[in-house]
Amino acid sequence: MSKLEGRVALVTGAASGIGAGIAAAFAREGADVVVADKAPAEAAARVVAAIERHGRAALYVHTDVSDEASVRAMAEQAIARFGRVDILVNNAGIFTESLLEDMPIEDWDRVVNTNLRGSFLCTRMLIGQMLERGDGRIINIASQLGQVGGDSVAHYSASKAGLIGLTKALAREVSRRGVLVNAIAPGPIQTPLLDSETEEWRNNKLADLPIGRFGTVDEVTPTAVLLASSDGSYYVGQTLGPNGGDVML
Ligand SMILES: NC(=O)c1ccc[n+]([C@@H]2O[C@H](COP(=O)([O-])OP(=O)(O)OC[C@H]3O[C@@H](n4cnc5c(N)ncnc54)[C@H](O)[C@@H]3O)[C@@H](O)[C@H]2O)c1
Repeated sequence: MSKLEGRVALVTGAASGIGAGIAAAFAREGADVVVADKAPAEAAARVVAAIERHGRAALYVHTDVSDEASVRAMAEQAIARFGRVDILVNNAGIFTESLLEDMPIEDWDRVVNTNLRGSFLCTRMLIGQMLERGDGRIINIASQLGQVGGDSVAHYSASKAGLIGLTKALAREVSRRGVLVNAIAPGPIQTPLLDSETEEWRNNKLADLPIGRFGTVDEVTPTAVLLASSDGSYYVGQTLGPNGGDVML
């Protein structure tokens, strides 16, 4: 029996990287998946095809998670097509680097608005129908940088620490009403986001990582499947860390 048979999932930022991996893994486990991304439909074509190869329905919705009207339209399209969303994965995220003293205020706003406000907006727009049914899962893709900080990433670390705080606070609000909220805080995972790092950073990080290599998307997706499925029914407000030992809490 597949772990997510008959479930409807919505994954933000699902056109690429970790989000695309989670969307495909959910489809493999039997879920229909809404692929919500700011990237155009052509960029999402590969993940849509992967979902359909697993015999599940895919719906691409062009979405900017930081924009209230766009998120409202996303939720409406998802509900119109599938009738409900059982699993929300707040994965859309961006990453830039600069020392705080030089950080353009627009950079701070863009990163926080995407990573934190975007997760709030998507949750705000979809949690009502979960609470009405007394059934739902929300998985927030944070980062280990939200747990331990990092040089030149104050905005990113703050957004991800905020997302972990949101996860805990919301988990306390809604667990007894059937909605379980948890976070995943990956370490360095090979995706286009990691490609933006300098050679020097990559070499230093590789030397430092207990496991001696970067992670793959396929090493993150099982944690998302766990938290989305009945196997994860006793996880509440937790932050799970597929991180190669980079952070040990
Ligand atoms: N790759 C890593 O090492 C790593 C580590 C820890 C956490 N993360 C987190 O994992 C998540 C996914 O990252 P990734 O590595 O797969 O990156 P990625 O760049 O491959 O994918 C991010 C996706 O989000 C989409 N996106 C960006 N802004 C958006 C917006 N405003 N609205 C809708 N979609 C938007 C992009 O179009 C893209 O498809 C992010 O939240 C990131 O912070 C990544």
